[in-house]
Amino acid sequence: MKISVIGCGYLGAVHAASMAKLGHTVVGVDVDEQKVAALAAGHAPFFEPGLPELLVEGKDRLRFTTDIADASEASVHFIAVGTPQQPDSNAVDLTYVRAAIEALLPHLTPGDLVVGKSTVPVGTAAQLAERVGTTGARLAWNPEFLREGFAIQDTLSPDRLVYGVRDGDPAAVAILDEVYAEAIAAETPRIVTDYATAELVKVSANAFLATKISFINAMAEIAEVTGADVTQLADAIGLDARIGRRFLNAGLGFGGGCLPKDIRGFMARAEELGVDQALSFLSEVDAINLRRRSRMVDLTREVVGGSLAGKRIAVLGLAFKPDSDDVRDSPALDVAIRLVAEGASVVATDPEAVETARRRRPELTYVATVEEAAANADAVVLLTEWRQYRELDPDDFAALVSERTIVDGRNCLNPALWRAAGWQYRALGRPGAATAQLAGVASR
Ligand code: UDX
Repeated sequence: MKISVIGCGYLGAVHAASMAKLGHTVVGVDVDEQKVAALAAGHAPFFEPGLPELLVEGKDRLRFTTDIADASEASVHFIAVGTPQQPDSNAVDLTYVRAAIEALLPHLTPGDLVVGKSTVPVGTAAQLAERVGTTGARLAWNPEFLREGFAIQDTLSPDRLVYGVRDGDPAAVAILDEVYAEAIAAETPRIVTDYATAELVKVSANAFLATKISFINAMAEIAEVTGADVTQLADAIGLDARIGRRFLNAGLGFGGGCLPKDIRGFMARAEELGVDQALSFLSEVDAINLRRRSRMVDLTREVVGGSLAGKRIAVLGLAFKPDSDDVRDSPALDVAIRLVAEGASVVATDPEAVETARRRRPELTYVATVEEAAANADAVVLLTEWRQYRELDPDDFAALVSERTIVDGRNCLNPALWRAAGWQYRALGRPGAATAQLAGVASR
């Protein structure tokens, strides 16, 4: 099939390369000349495992351009532009989606299918369908559930396909089935529904995941005052198949380009619809999430003796999660900046995100390696659970630092191993020392 992908950011670039991998002929369109030049040269403008290989492998069927007129070669057009949070409110900024549709309209042919993939507030697709319909083309909403770091796998072998179409639109369904023929043949569950449900599937999935993370982080707050261990708690409740262990990793909480903005945008939309009460719990989910960052700073201050002023702190991790160079709304970067604000001398590193972090926060001191970050540190704070940090050897590592003090912001290290090597090990939601104390029990 001949496909265009409008918007070649994270979602669009991965989608375009994946569509070419599936055998389709793809033109990716973006207004950013630098991004287009990089992609055309086979370079991914961001870190995503497997993407550079796909760009090279698909080069005979895949090209990138800044000229939207080239979309006229295609009959299926994916809209994959960003939908950021508005600067002055929780609401979603739909400027890029509307601009993409308007720019595409003159190049549509009757019978073409426009497919929305961007995450939009419920009700958007129905409005856009009117505009698309003026050209004789049709609109479907087909949300994307890709996770950074697993984006190719999530696109090529999704958990489920969701098609939001008007009145069951058999022609749109048939076209999407052809696009995703491989996934359909692999019996991927497929849900054909209306626009509103398709739009809601995406935001409600992300709201659920955010809630699950904040739930366990709320339990971490309880664990911290009772001497309980939140990681063991998560293991134990996660064994209940109805709950499940995934997304119950307590720590610094969620960040990135999706979860935070999606829950805020969802709340803003609910308010517009007069059902804000239905989602008022999400503001608590957001608040719990942000409190973890303050708690991390408090804990770091505590382990260095009550004041961060003049302390050398090694920051391991800047990306919002491992296997990504994305620092959008990154809890790690936020904590690093807060430590600096309290007078600490912070030296930060990350396997992939140093450059993206530097662009956003040039005032931080960045180094390329763990060794440089840890040199003469009064405390090490682990903020993103990259494999290379999880596998650090506490004995070897001890030689680099001034003080054997580590704060594990992601509960990804083995406390017993680190303590055995002479480290003061602290973590969010885990007991401070080998013997836990139940605060308040004695007074009962
Ligand atoms: C998310 C959704 O998972 C994906 O389906 C959607 O399409 C886009 O948003 P992504 O932003 O790539 O994907 O990250 P995800 O893996 O969901 O992690 C989000 C954040 O939650 C990260 O900061 C991660 O560190 C944090 N997290 C995740 C936890 O703190 N604990 C967990 O148990 C899981």
